[in-house]
Amino acid sequence: VSGARIRLATKGDVAALANLRRAWVEEYAGAPIDDDRYESDFADWYDAETGRRTTWLATVGAEAVGMLNLTEFRRMPQPGVPRRRWGYIANVFVRPARRDLGIGKQLLDAALAEAAERGYVRLVLSPSAGSMPFYRRAGFVPADSLLVLPLR
Ligand SMILES: CC(C)(COP(=O)(O)OP(=O)(O)OC[C@H]1O[C@@H](n2cnc3c(N)ncnc32)[C@H](O)[C@@H]1OP(=O)(O)O)[C@@H](O)C(=O)NCCC(=O)NCCS
Repeated sequence: VSGARIRLATKGDVAALANLRRAWVEEYAGAPIDDDRYESDFADWYDAETGRRTTWLATVGAEAVGMLNLTEFRRMPQPGVPRRRWGYIANVFVRPARRDLGIGKQLLDAALAEAAERGYVRLVLSPSAGSMPFYRRAGFVPADSLLVLPLR
């Protein structure tokens, strides 16, 4: 058992979310990154996104150990057709010391339950290299009906 609790993040969690994001980037960089504008950029971004993006936080005791967010896209209404929405899952991260305990699955399960509750027609995500098996286990399959134009 992971011992982690999953809950919705609130505005009071912005610093904890920014810390998780920093830990992720620094894990890949292999070193601390000096950027004194990052925390305020992060808070601005969170404010701007919060209307359509739902964020979950995993905690163990008082420590924030993981996160995931779900952005909602609303399809253009069509006459005679029920309104349709879909979701994009992003920024899935669990602190290295807490991995392989099922916390990522707990976070993903929370988002999947919410997507089902909202009646989403699909969920989309862009997996990191190593996380493919993690998402495949949850039922995600490679997309053959999307096109991407890489611009950078
Ligand atoms: C992907 C990630 C969120 C999974 O969290 P977790 O709590 O370890 O997840 P669970 O314990 O529920 O599942 C473990 C599975 O995660 C995957 N995983 C383990 N380490 C991973 C890593 N460093 N990067 C990507 N996926 C990883 C594996 O599929 C693993 O299952 P396996 O050991 O049977 O192969 C976590 O590994 C992580 O934060 N990775 C780095 C960031 C990342 O790649 N995020 C995904 C962006 S799309």
